[in-house]
Amino acid sequence: MLLEVSNLNTYYGQSHALQDMTLNVAQGEVVALLGRNGMGKSTTLKSIMGLLKPSSGKVVFNGREITGLQPYKVARAGIGYVPEERRIFPNLSVMDNLMMGVKGGKINNSDPEAWSIEKIFRHFPFMKERTHQKGAHLSGGEQQMLTIGRTLMGNPKLLMVDEPTEGLSPIMVKEVRDVLKQISESGISILLVEHNLKMAMSIAHRVYLMGKAHLGFSGTVAELEANAEAKAKYLEV
Ligand SMILES: Nc1ncnc2c1ncn2[C@@H]1O[C@H](COP(=O)(O)OP(=O)(O)OP(=O)(O)O)[C@@H](O)[C@H]1O
Ligand SMILES: [Mg+2]
Repeated sequence: MLLEVSNLNTYYGQSHALQDMTLNVAQGEVVALLGRNGMGKSTTLKSIMGLLKPSSGKVVFNGREITGLQPYKVARAGIGYVPEERRIFPNLSVMDNLMMGVKGGKINNSDPEAWSIEKIFRHFPFMKERTHQKGAHLSGGEQQMLTIGRTLMGNPKLLMVDEPTEGLSPIMVKEVRDVLKQISESGISILLVEHNLKMAMSIAHRVYLMGKAHLGFSGTVAELEANAEAKAKYLEV
């Protein structure tokens, strides 16, 4: 397993927001983490990323324990995180936004697989025409793509994306979906939090459903499709 999360417990003050949360992502897999509002999906990602400190449990990435490490160390270990709130730099150009994602400010030229600006442009052609425009002038969907592109510039092995299609038009939802699929096909594993069930199921290999603060269901996409009870219990259907 590339990512192994076992029995994570996370609190906000007295509130026990994650209770023995457990999930895995294998190399090359796309795994969806779904559930209704306020169940703890974002809390799970933040606890993995080191933005929240779990009180117990374990996060192992690429064979190494990373539980509770600072976020920049988790990023260096190879986890890229695209938070719910798109965090572009509105006053910086598209190019400068992308360069902000380069770890240590240096592009890795020694690895042919490493992400370069050219490779980003191949996946996100619109950015090439708009390299000098300010981030603020992009649409919501384009800003989402820019955030994903910037995160890829850090060469993650695993990309964790929190609700990338929220608030986007159907056309942009499809574009974001297609880009995530391409990224997955290029060998990067993805842990995807989504409200758009159809979109998530169209690219995921496996699914976890959360009930309040805990894991409710785990299985393949086909297993979930066949399980009306789990869908009714944990999803808005
Ligand atoms: N900073 C915080 N302080 C206190 N409680 C919080 C905080 N952030 C989230 N919570 C609570 O923790 C629970 C889980 O929140 P979380 O954001 O992880 O849910 P989610 O599954 O991502 O929901 P959504 O689908 O709405 O994004 C919710 O009850 C939420 O109100
Ligand atoms: Mg959330």
